Amino acid sequence: MPSDRFSPCVFAAFCAALAQLDGDPLDVLEIGSRPGHLALDVVGRCRVRSYVALDFSDAMHQLARGHLGEMADRVTFLQRDFRDANWTVGLGLFDAVVTMQAAHETRHKRHLVPTLGRVGSVLKPGGLLLYCDHYTEVGSNKNPSLYMARQDQAGSIRDAGFSDVRTLHDEGGMALYAARPLRIDHLGCHRVPAVELRPQFECGESPDTQFMAPSLAIGAG
Ligand SMILES: C[S@@+](CC[C@H](N)C(=O)[O-])C[C@H]1O[C@@H](n2cnc3c(N)ncnc32)[C@H](O)[C@@H]1O
Repeated sequence: MPSDRFSPCVFAAFCAALAQLDGDPLDVLEIGSRPGHLALDVVGRCRVRSYVALDFSDAMHQLARGHLGEMADRVTFLQRDFRDANWTVGLGLFDAVVTMQAAHETRHKRHLVPTLGRVGSVLKPGGLLLYCDHYTEVGSNKNPSLYMARQDQAGSIRDAGFSDVRTLHDEGGMALYAARPLRIDHLGCHRVPAVELRPQFECGESPDTQFMAPSLAIGAG
């Protein structure tokens, strides 16, 4: 099983990407929020108006409330199963959907594309998917029916209806990607969103102000 101890760099990479979104304070949805490690960083460090923490486990939501302390008042805890085809119904639209180490919980990697496809339906135009999960590697003991190979992750995000897929961080057998939902224009053509996200981020610097030097940047796909 993959480790549950996350590097602070991965949280900082999430926050750096959210900091690049324009406009008002952000409406953010997290899928598979567990005890709220990611929520703690995003709510505490990013420009967040609303944060919906979606998890099917009430026990996890209780843990998260304790972990978040006073910050829990700024979080809506939603009990829903993302394997359910209707899990997005009534959620509204978000500037960003974030997920970390949860997408493999669909119990088979073939469910990833339809699950992410539904994520696209709750993103505002110009919104951002930040998807982070483990991948299989030679010599790792990760279950290959649950986890994708590293080289298949970006393609699956594209297959789910996203474009401009960028790797923002890759550490400890887990990669973080940013992607924009493709929109269909009035002629029925796919339109790549105009807003370009800089993938650069340097761990150890403030995510609000500093980004990775070009030599360290992780590229597309
Ligand atoms: C490893 S944790 C994610 C860690 C979390 N992102 C954090 O920052 O603390 C995976 C979470 O996904 C939740 N989960 C698993 N399957 C789910 C499903 N089908 N629907 C909703 N939540 C699910 C589990 O309850 C668990 O809390």
